[in-house]
Amino acid sequence: MIGITWKDCYATHVGCFDSEHQHLVALIDQYFRAIRENRGEQVVDSLLEKILDYTASHFAHEEKMMREHTYPRYHAHRQEHLKMIASVKGFQSLLAEDGTDTGEILLTIRNFLRDWLLHHIVEEDQKYGPFFNQKGIC
Ligand SMILES: [Fe+2]
Ligand SMILES: [Fe+2]
Repeated sequence: MIGITWKDCYATHVGCFDSEHQHLVALIDQYFRAIRENRGEQVVDSLLEKILDYTASHFAHEEKMMREHTYPRYHAHRQEHLKMIASVKGFQSLLAEDGTDTGEILLTIRNFLRDWLLHHIVEEDQKYGPFFNQKGIC
């Protein structure tokens, strides 16, 4: 697996969220690169914290906009956000444990981040595109 790059088919057509998603893809790609260059163990803590921070503020932004416009899938969507944050925190705890096979977990985290982000954008985030567009938000 080489990395993760932004593709136009990931667009939600809500400009601010597409920019944030592009930034998230780039952050996760940094993680891919670090693993390829055998720097995974050195950067995992700080990079995961960075990804978690950015993700949390992105989720808060989406949720705020959903509440403001009474988006009908708000609760289901928010549950997915909460699960993602809990999973990343779980990985952080696992990394902090003694005797963890770090090499193995680095790859598990990498695959989780890629699969989760792309799945969430395509399956959930893209559903709000037409809704917000109809409200004049592009
Ligand atoms: Fe979302
Ligand atoms: Fe999103």
